[in-house]
Amino acid sequence: MKKSVLVTMGSVVVIVPLFLLALSINENKAEQKVINEVPKIKHMETISAEWSKHFPRQYDSYVQTKKSDKITDMLEKNPALVVLWAGYGFSKDYNAPRGHSYMLEDNINTLRTGAPVDGNTGPMPTACWTCKSPDVPRLMEKIGELDYFTGKWARFGSEIVNPVGCADCHDNETMRLTITRPHLKRALDAEGSLKAADATHQDMRTLVCAQCHAEYYFKPTDWTDKNGEKKVAKVVTFPWANGFAVEDMEKYYDDINFADWTHQVSKTPMLKAQHPGYELYKTGVHALNGVSCADCHMPYVREGGVKYSSHNVGSPLDNIANTCLNCHSSDEKTLRDTIARKLERKDELSKTAMDVIGKAHLEAGKAWELGATEEEMKPVLLDIRHAQWRWDYSIASHGSFFHAPEETLRILGSAINKGQDARVKLRTVLARYNAADYVAPDFSTKEKAQQVIGLPYQKLVDEKMNFLNTLREEWIKEATAKGLYDPKTREGLEFKTSYK
Ligand code: HEC
Ligand code: HEC
Ligand code: HEC
Ligand code: HEC
Repeated sequence: MKKSVLVTMGSVVVIVPLFLLALSINENKAEQKVINEVPKIKHMETISAEWSKHFPRQYDSYVQTKKSDKITDMLEKNPALVVLWAGYGFSKDYNAPRGHSYMLEDNINTLRTGAPVDGNTGPMPTACWTCKSPDVPRLMEKIGELDYFTGKWARFGSEIVNPVGCADCHDNETMRLTITRPHLKRALDAEGSLKAADATHQDMRTLVCAQCHAEYYFKPTDWTDKNGEKKVAKVVTFPWANGFAVEDMEKYYDDINFADWTHQVSKTPMLKAQHPGYELYKTGVHALNGVSCADCHMPYVREGGVKYSSHNVGSPLDNIANTCLNCHSSDEKTLRDTIARKLERKDELSKTAMDVIGKAHLEAGKAWELGATEEEMKPVLLDIRHAQWRWDYSIASHGSFFHAPEETLRILGSAINKGQDARVKLRTVLARYNAADYVAPDFSTKEKAQQVIGLPYQKLVDEKMNFLNTLREEWIKEATAKGLYDPKTREGLEFKTSYK
């Protein structure tokens, strides 16, 4: 063999593998680039189990919210509520909040959302899903906000299927806290003291919660779809333009003549306070000292050498050592007793307010029955509207007695005062119709109260069960076919309601 041929062959033997090696390095680089470029978690990934592959600790603690599963029937506990909410969904069914894992189930199971038979029936609008699932921002992005806020609740039964998840609060690429509800940004900007764009990291540790734990109403908004069809959206709106105080929001609603419903007995144009948790918290000493919701409800915990935020959002009393005692030098028992006393004080005034306002509604009903005129009743109804709004505002967020004790008690005081104003005026009206000694009927149990307002309770329960066994099952099948449903979210959840 010639030397040159040998050299050539030798070169080939050396060069080809080198070439292949270079190629493979290049390929590896390309692959690495692809790995680096493609986010590990896809945009608006609503299935939290997908995020858990990267963040198992946060996910495992988030799943622990399933343990807070107790149903507390608030109507049983405070029967006056049935009278206060007569003609409105809350008189049918209302439970105290429980773990985040239950938010979707509870929304679907409550008698308030009724028993739709298809996507166009039922009492509630789509807006009722808004603080229940990361599928909400996903849908808003997909079909547009106004379309999302149009139609009946049942329209999205097979689309909104995951309870609050990682995508509600985190950006998938950076994991930074993020606001996924555009109405919160708009409301912050309208209020003005903290513009959404100026929020610091510490602010965000509160604002992610304020997306849902805030007062809102459904603002009717006209729009035209792409086929030129005129539609009305009911857009979740936080009434903050005049400020965060209860009087500011009362004025906001009065100025636009807004009513959530007309009271069945007293005919008052009513306001339903939702859960102004953020707004009341802001008036408390903790907020004034920069303590965030997460500081108390998502404490840092340690596992081996790793420190992470517990995503088991629940009562800080379950973990006083890692929450309160980070800042306070007092002992557990003193703190527990302090909180218990704050709760008792709130309960005392709240009970008085409910009793006063309940009686005012029934006395107003009697006055109408006897022939009272619009003119006689107008000032009475304004007092009732304001009394109930204030009472509801002060207690509806459940934590206000602790977050902002003084403000909560101040508002309750003003609610009782307004309620008594209504009753004083009503005595005069009733006297004019020879009923000065009228005594409102007994509403001291849930059953009695539901009879007083004539609620067809059993019918509502039967219809609900029918819905749960039919359309609701269809929704799960459809959502599974679309790849949206994760059965893990329902694993281990027991069917618990106030009615079955
Ligand atoms: C997507 C909306 C949403 C977000 C975001 C959200 N919550 Fe909630 N939260 C709810 C709903 C709805 C419930 C009631 C669930 C139920 O009763 O089924 C609830 C319940 C709770 C409860 C009661 C838990 C229990 O076990 O009794 C606490 C406490 C709470 N939330 C605090 C927070 C805090 C703190 C944040 C922010 C870190 C937050 N939430 C963020 C919607 C939300
Ligand atoms: C209600 C809002 C909310 C939801 C839902 C939520 N997180 Fe968080 N997450 C927070 C807050 C608040 C922090 C604390 C952020 C900080 O101070 O840096 C946090 C922190 C984190 C961190 C940073 C490390 C740590 O533990 O502090 C990771 C990672 C994380 N979350 C993952 C997840 C995953 C995975 C999910 C879904 C299973 C999830 N989060 C759901 C609010 C949320
Ligand atoms: C300084 C600590 C602290 C801060 C800050 C704080 N909370 Fe609370 N929160 C508590 C305590 C304590 C309770 C009462 C718990 C109990 O009774 O078991 C509570 C109760 C609640 C409840 C009612 C839970 C139930 O099941 O009745 C909700 C909802 C809630 N907080 C949400 C929030 C939100 C949202 C923020 C921020 C806007 C926030 N909290 C800020 C300590 C705090
Ligand atoms: C991040 C720090 C921090 C955490 C966590 C915290 N606090 Fe505080 N707390 C404060 C500060 C600061 C004040 C205001 C002190 C002052 O003005 O002298 C305060 C004030 C108080 C007060 C007196 C004011 C009032 O509202 O009655 C009580 C009671 C209280 N905290 C209880 C608690 C409890 C219970 C917890 C746990 C659920 C808790 N705190 C968690 C920092 C904290």
